[in-house]
Amino acid sequence: MIHLRSGSARLTSCTMDVVSCSSLMFWSRRILGYRCAFHVPALLASVMICSSLLCPAGAFLYNNRYAGDRVLRITPSNEQEVRALKGILGLMKVDFWQPNSASLIHQNRSVDVHVKHHDIRGIHKRLTDQKISYQVLISNLQKEIEKQTGHRSSRKRRAESQYDYEVYHSLEEIQSWMFEMNRTQPDLVGLFSVGKSYEGRPLYVLQLGKRNQKKAVWIDCGVHAREWIGPAFCQWFVKEAISSYQYDSAMTRLLNQLSFYIMPVFNVDGYHYSWNTDRFWRKTRSKIRKFHCRGVDANRNWKVKWCDEGASSHPCDDTYCGPFPESEPEVKAVAKFLRKNKKRIKAYISIHAYAQMLLYPYSYKYAMIPNFNCVESAASSAVKALYSAYGVRYRYGPASTTLYVSSGSSIDWAYKNGIPYAFAFELRDTGYFGFLLPESLIKPTCTETTRAVKAIASGLLKKCNPDKDRFPYI
Ligand SMILES: *[C@@H]1O[C@H](CO)[C@@H](O)[C@H](O)[C@H]1NC(C)=O
Ligand SMILES: *[C@@H]1O[C@H](CO)[C@@H](O)[C@H](O)[C@H]1NC(C)=O
Ligand SMILES: [Zn+2]
Repeated sequence: MIHLRSGSARLTSCTMDVVSCSSLMFWSRRILGYRCAFHVPALLASVMICSSLLCPAGAFLYNNRYAGDRVLRITPSNEQEVRALKGILGLMKVDFWQPNSASLIHQNRSVDVHVKHHDIRGIHKRLTDQKISYQVLISNLQKEIEKQTGHRSSRKRRAESQYDYEVYHSLEEIQSWMFEMNRTQPDLVGLFSVGKSYEGRPLYVLQLGKRNQKKAVWIDCGVHAREWIGPAFCQWFVKEAISSYQYDSAMTRLLNQLSFYIMPVFNVDGYHYSWNTDRFWRKTRSKIRKFHCRGVDANRNWKVKWCDEGASSHPCDDTYCGPFPESEPEVKAVAKFLRKNKKRIKAYISIHAYAQMLLYPYSYKYAMIPNFNCVESAASSAVKALYSAYGVRYRYGPASTTLYVSSGSSIDWAYKNGIPYAFAFELRDTGYFGFLLPESLIKPTCTETTRAVKAIASGLLKKCNPDKDRFPYI
């Protein structure tokens, strides 16, 4: 049905080049008869040959930039340790995995950080000096990355005709897949663009289901570039919907009565960058004058309590809110589409990772939403449905109390603009692999999440009476 070779072919040939690189090194040592003292420069020379000539994509993924980097889990157990830890991590400029900034460090809450190899001794010393204990989650990040994406040559290539939903795909592959879906499933799938990214890429949205239903559901994935399981889920959901239509009565009903708008990769520029340059890139790729740091957090850029608590006004931070609300073309385009269709869109769902949580508004304050009962019961059935697949437990509740306070988020914006059900999923896991969820876990993760999304969507077809008088929900 679908032929997508470009990305995989490139990587396959590169894997073979790794082999030829090592044999090259072997022969250069043999033939030239270098002695030990000369091995290092000879090796370096071969590596340089490898990376510049034989393996244009890099013999090592990402040019080996994560070799020796670690991911640490640090849990401060009192206020003094919280203060010390904030100081240490701020000083070292670590890459925050969970939570995503130093301001969110709290007592007894674990902090996962990616530490560059040259900072490991320093951070170890500082933490030990302060008697703060920590655990090494990943001891060599480069190895873990190669493990996650390194099976490419041995992937199930036999069935070339079948798109492989159990591997991560590059942006180019995902876009070709979308075109193919649009071409081969004209009854159930449509494809259009809602605008262009900062770097000029089209922002594609698939429309799934019988055309122009009165009610619609929006699902976006890949808002944060490094959360690769998100785009994998969006693709999985489309596949599931199409293949179970007319076989599964619940899915048939959903596709007959709802329109699904599915945006597999929201932050296209960032996703592309996370494949080609920095695996742990989170933000968009926009640039503002005078600052050398690029990118805005696309989940802090929405016009709702913009740039307040839980967002940063510093362009180098991972939670940078941007120069003004909707400064990011991606956010602006989606906001425009949602505004235009807000009468029909009954649920907004944003797929993130990682934490195993299902979150709903508010993010920016500790308060109960007016239609709390309806949303809470939808969340509860979603989490139950998810659990029914593999027994994986998700926490759920308002984002502010369940995860942390953040302002300018898309769920708060959607809710404030009249979409009564707004959810953010934080998919697997809880930190063992973090952003490097292995491809072997794509299937279980997406299967259980599909159940949860179906539960939310099915709920929209039933009546739930919120307190109508208090609309809009601000
Ligand atoms: C944090 O954990 C310690 C040790 O288990 C406990 O004594 C303390 O009360 C906890 N603090 C908070 C704020 O939960
Ligand atoms: C999707 O397919 C329709 C025809 O079925 C075509 O008109 C439309 O341009 C396609 N969308 C994109 C983005 O190519
Ligand atoms: Zn995210």
